[in-house]
Amino acid sequence: MLISLEGIDGCGKSTQARLLADALRAQGRDVVLTREPGGSPGAEEIRRLLVEGAGERWSPETECLLFTAARRDHLERTIRPALMAGRVVVTDRFADSTRVYQGAARGDLRDMVDRLHALMIGVEPDRTFVIDIDPATGLARGNARGGAEDRFESLGLSFQQRLATGFRALAAEYPDRVRLIDGSGSADDVSARILAAL
Ligand code: TYD
Repeated sequence: MLISLEGIDGCGKSTQARLLADALRAQGRDVVLTREPGGSPGAEEIRRLLVEGAGERWSPETECLLFTAARRDHLERTIRPALMAGRVVVTDRFADSTRVYQGAARGDLRDMVDRLHALMIGVEPDRTFVIDIDPATGLARGNARGGAEDRFESLGLSFQQRLATGFRALAAEYPDRVRLIDGSGSADDVSARILAAL
């Protein structure tokens, strides 16, 4: 099974991906915890090009190609081999991030995103959990974390608001696969909601 965690910057999905992997391991499952952009050596190299530097460093089209290249490598080298071996894969972001960040938030590129996905990726997670939080809270958390990986946070609050709207729309578009999870409260509260939904 392939499970993805999604949401805006600072929503807590990395913590939730870890807690979900821990909970599944405690049930005796063999779990691979991975992330995007990245998750394989080649894709981690592409990650640096994407998350560091100026907000407008890439055109939306180029950015989309780089995310898709990273995802293809992640799929070939990490996700598919793990699924073939019968393992459960929990990934911190997958194709829905491209749909929302590149497809909805940065110009009307959704059609291009969908065509590239069909051509180069062609798989969806079995289940996707979107951690839904207030964009101002998420941005404050993301900025508090500091570090060099702030390219998307640097695009500001109105960008985060468009993203939050985009993720909510995705839950409506894929009701069988995508669940919105209330991201308020403690990490353990949110984790319990995800496990109950799963
Ligand atoms: P991530 O490491 O998940 O950052 P965070 O832990 O702050 O949420 O992702 C890095 C950034 O890349 C994040 O701002 C979202 C963005 N992103 C896209 O724009 N498109 C994509 O397809 C993916 C996977 C990530």
